[in-house]
Amino acid sequence: MGDPHPKLHATDLTRTFGRAPRAVDALGPVDLTVTPGEFVCLVGPSGCGKSTFLRIAAGLLRPSTGRLEIRTSSPRPAAMIFQDYGIYDWKTVRANVRFGLDIQRVPRREANARADQWLTRMGLADFAHAYPAALSGGMRQRVAIARALAVEPELLLMDEPFAALDAQLRMILQEELLELTQATRTTTLFVTHSLEEAIVLGDRVLVMSARPGRIIAEHHPPFPRPRTGDIRSTPEFTSLKSDLWDLLRKEAVPA
Ligand SMILES: Nc1ncnc2c1ncn2[C@@H]1O[C@H](COP(=O)(O)OP(=O)(O)OP(=O)(O)O)[C@@H](O)[C@H]1O
Ligand SMILES: [Mg+2]
Repeated sequence: MGDPHPKLHATDLTRTFGRAPRAVDALGPVDLTVTPGEFVCLVGPSGCGKSTFLRIAAGLLRPSTGRLEIRTSSPRPAAMIFQDYGIYDWKTVRANVRFGLDIQRVPRREANARADQWLTRMGLADFAHAYPAALSGGMRQRVAIARALAVEPELLLMDEPFAALDAQLRMILQEELLELTQATRTTTLFVTHSLEEAIVLGDRVLVMSARPGRIIAEHHPPFPRPRTGDIRSTPEFTSLKSDLWDLLRKEAVPA
């Protein structure tokens, strides 16, 4: 069924920062395969190397050892969404969403049309010509999501994209992301501190150890797709959450 090649394949991946005697082993070794259409969530204690892994996957950072392969056909690259949104304050909302399309040299008229479609989808149609300073945190995060999705990425890398939002808005955006990724089947690697978020969104939830982060457990939330946030009220949800919490608590306690 579909494309048999993994979208992301990491083998024995590690990253160390600095030099001995002050070297910090930040990550790994990590082995991970993400297949097309999969939504994989990474959880782990603070400082265990989650952002480091995502930055390597996005090509922003080199691994120290090991290999990371991303298989995308060139016009549809990987897109990354950061916790701090990473949008440009000096560009209008529409120009922000158009950004990746401009880089791909999509003709202006088509790029504007595609940007406007995503703005409509994200409930931001009235703000196309506004500047980010005029938006709330949740709206800015929607702009970042629209910008990432406008390029129709083959691989979406998200680093705690909802961490700065209040609980209610966070749930709303989780639902939107769920709908969107289920409709588009976008392959996604999603980092979060929230176990609930990981269970709601993920086909797989990978638990990382304390630094240097390795993958120490893998869970498959047993909820068929398409799913909605309603699964939060099931006993399976509660029990998986407590299993994950037991694992994570052991890692979060400093040795
Ligand atoms: N550019 C850098 N130079 C030196 N050390 C770094 C650098 N980036 C990250 N580190 C170190 O690598 C380790 C892992 O950092 P990373 O940001 O990947 O953790 P994280 O799992 O994303 O944490 P959090 O959950 O708090 O975001 C930390 O000890 C951090 O101090
Ligand atoms: Mg991080």
